Amino acid sequence: MNHEQLPTERPAVVTCGLPYANGNLHVGHLRTYVDGDLFSRALKRAGQETAFVCGSDMHGTPVAVNAAKEGVEPKDFALRHHEQYIERFEQFNIGFDNYGHTHDETNTELTQSFVKSWIDNDHVHEKEIAVAWDAEEDQPLPDRYVEGTCPYCGEHARGDECDDGCQRHLEPGEIEDPVSTITGNSAEYRKQPHKFLKLADFQTYLQGFLNRLEGTDNAKNQPREWIEGELEDLCITRDMDWGIDYPGESEEELVLYVWVDAPIEYVSSTKQYSERVGTDTYDWEAVWKVNGETQHGTEWKDEWTDETGEIIHIIGRDIIQHHCVFWPAMLRGAGYNEPRAVLATGFVGIDGKALSTSRNRAIWAKEYLDAGFHPDLFRYYIATGSDLENDIDFSWDRFAERVNGELVGNLGNFCYRALLFAQRNYGGTPDVETSKEIQDEIETALEAFRSAIRDYDIRAIGNIAVELAAVGNEYIQRNEPWNLVDDEPDTAAQVIRDCVQLSKACAVLMQPVMPEKAESLWNSLGEDGSIVEATLGDALEAPPAEFDEPTELFTKVESDHVESLNEELRARVEAAEADERATDGDEQSREESESATVDIEPLEDERISFDEFQGIDMRVGEILEAEPIEGADKLLRLDVDLGVETRQVVAGLRELHDVETLAGTRVIVLANMEKAELFGHESNGMVLAAGEEADLLTTYENAPLGTRVR
Ligand code: MSP
Ligand code: ZN
Repeated sequence: MNHEQLPTERPAVVTCGLPYANGNLHVGHLRTYVDGDLFSRALKRAGQETAFVCGSDMHGTPVAVNAAKEGVEPKDFALRHHEQYIERFEQFNIGFDNYGHTHDETNTELTQSFVKSWIDNDHVHEKEIAVAWDAEEDQPLPDRYVEGTCPYCGEHARGDECDDGCQRHLEPGEIEDPVSTITGNSAEYRKQPHKFLKLADFQTYLQGFLNRLEGTDNAKNQPREWIEGELEDLCITRDMDWGIDYPGESEEELVLYVWVDAPIEYVSSTKQYSERVGTDTYDWEAVWKVNGETQHGTEWKDEWTDETGEIIHIIGRDIIQHHCVFWPAMLRGAGYNEPRAVLATGFVGIDGKALSTSRNRAIWAKEYLDAGFHPDLFRYYIATGSDLENDIDFSWDRFAERVNGELVGNLGNFCYRALLFAQRNYGGTPDVETSKEIQDEIETALEAFRSAIRDYDIRAIGNIAVELAAVGNEYIQRNEPWNLVDDEPDTAAQVIRDCVQLSKACAVLMQPVMPEKAESLWNSLGEDGSIVEATLGDALEAPPAEFDEPTELFTKVESDHVESLNEELRARVEAAEADERATDGDEQSREESESATVDIEPLEDERISFDEFQGIDMRVGEILEAEPIEGADKLLRLDVDLGVETRQVVAGLRELHDVETLAGTRVIVLANMEKAELFGHESNGMVLAAGEEADLLTTYENAPLGTRVR
């Protein structure tokens, strides 16, 4: 390891993967920002001078495609989302020191200066490549305008990324069996001149870089495979209007690829912060440049490492290649400093599946807040839900269980009991010294905090206060101060004094993960000023002798509330699945026509009892009416006659069956299926069908409607 341990005497910058300004934020996105915010607060708390910066990613096809769907200009569209993100981050207590966007002047200028620097240093060349083209529209199809098959893993991929498969970046022209997302036609390939960054120039540099890199194992190791063999050029231009112009006179129609200007926003945003607070307070060049200046060459000098600032990137695991291969090459090509650490978090999913914004299989950031929960609870849940690299399956049950057990039952309960007892019996902190035992406990916790920072262990940082509260609860339980007040007043005062100190240490240590809750606890302790100003050492300093009666820090999540959230989510997941089945059906029928094989699922090993089977109420029914549901491509609303009553059922049949011919079809309905609401329509039962093609189950003869299936 070449680096001096964190915290260092030099300035640091912590950045988060920029959100595309193209939709709403969901709990998956929030993982990047919560973890980034937590880590930057922890670094600051440990005494490292730190800027926490980010910005909205305004360009590229992710924005252009969605703007086009709404029929608005990409700029207006992106700015609207940018504004919304600012508000959302604030609501989640994510406190960037600067939050810019990639389309602003700072970033436009800086991006162009990076590219000019690559050109000047001979890292850019032009060549003709085959780009996907929509013949009907007579236009090129950059990135997300084209879909097809990943040449590396064979999974379905879109444009420039294999997001369902191997997560690799795909260069223009690489995707196989390209289809235009504008017309749905097969795309052609046409020759076009483009500009390329010669990544091969940085091959040796990148090998050394990966050896120096700190952070999560996935970020350090996965890229090794990607830099084996000769590195291919990176196409840095696109045939689009929306983006930052390629610098140079003759290239007016070309804009820079979004992944060029996006990471440069990390630098631009830091620069804006410096300009706001003054370079005496924070000097962006001391962080981003080498000894404050650009140093060209494709080598890295070891002595630079301890003379530059600390760059720490926090991202999701889908964008490791961009941050650990392209970005360091881009920085080196322009003579800038390199990242010290990349922390790539696992993904957040629901029900064992990836979130899907288009299918609405997601929990949205706003929705969480609308449910009335405090943002700090979510922060705690997501930051400590798994080790940083592992995926988290979001579940309301687990959320409630952890909030109720760890926050309400442990941390909240301990601090409340301690402060209430102290206030009622002593009017505040009892006038004795903290015991050696508890002082040691606090010191151990402080050391755990420092070492978790050195290890970039965000989960451990998030857990420390709760663990310390557990020590406190055990201590209070063991000593039973309520039994001592009368007979052994000195011991009682000692025990309570210790508990008050532990509460103060909890406040200091929980602040990175739950900043607002930590502030309330700080106030309850009668401390002046904000906890933001407190240092780690303050955890051992006596709290004020007087404070008011405390309030409870956390409130319990009620089980009815969880039930209703679960129900809503279940319906949503089912709708997404119906939607997915319908799409997969399309894909499979395409594949089948080529290979004529169908994968048969293995038979279930686990047996059910006859009693269990009796609980499944299946009935003969007849579809009376079928109509498409607005806004849901795959779903139909059906009225099904079950003999005794007519039920409304929502089914994912729209793309698989001719809607007109469905009325009059006899079907089998699972009548005691849980009710669900899909796209605003109640679904009261489930129509049974076989396989991806939704081959409807029906009757062989004419059993009357409503007959039970046995
Ligand atoms: N704009 C690019 C990043 C450019 S960085 C120079 C991008 N944007 S994004 O909106 O798709 O994602 C923003 C952040 O959220 C990224 O760090 C990404 O990895 C993360 N996540 C997006 N979906 C996620 C989950 N479902 N789970 C966890 N993190 C996820 O990528
Ligand atoms: Zn792939």
